[in-house]
Amino acid sequence: MRVTCTVNGAPREADDVWPGESLLYLLRERLGLPGAKNACEQGECGSCTVYLDGQAVCACLVAAGQAQGREVVTVEGLAEAAAPVQRAFVAAGAVQCGFCTPGLVVAVHDLLSRDPAPGDADIREALAGNLCRCTGYEQILDAVRLAARDLAAAES
Ligand code: FES
Ligand code: FES
Repeated sequence: MRVTCTVNGAPREADDVWPGESLLYLLRERLGLPGAKNACEQGECGSCTVYLDGQAVCACLVAAGQAQGREVVTVEGLAEAAAPVQRAFVAAGAVQCGFCTPGLVVAVHDLLSRDPAPGDADIREALAGNLCRCTGYEQILDAVRLAARDLAAAES
């Protein structure tokens, strides 16, 4: 089947998409967008998080065909909008191997879009689906607090 959708603001299409193929495969292997990572392919780790029609989803759990006619935004498409989040991750030492980072950047961008001043419990709940095997999570919490502070300062 042919899948036509909008990815990071641009119309994209792919031919010969297999019905069981995931949106993650479509993005990475057919559309050349490797930002969303493939770690578990079972919806367990959050490394493949993207927006689908404005909702953060695990791209490995979405069939590529479900993206037909819809709007997808990947971490590449958030380069500007999530720059403060990315800077905070670096400043807080929340990036080690970096495999979890793209999914976390999307998830944190999503959290702070909904709640600009989340408490620790809110952060933990929002990021419960994003696994990191390197950092022990404290630096990630620091990064979210820092990003929230920076965004608030930028708006005041
Ligand atoms: S690769 Fe999609 S949740 Fe792990
Ligand atoms: S930095 Fe390595 S998995 Fe998170």
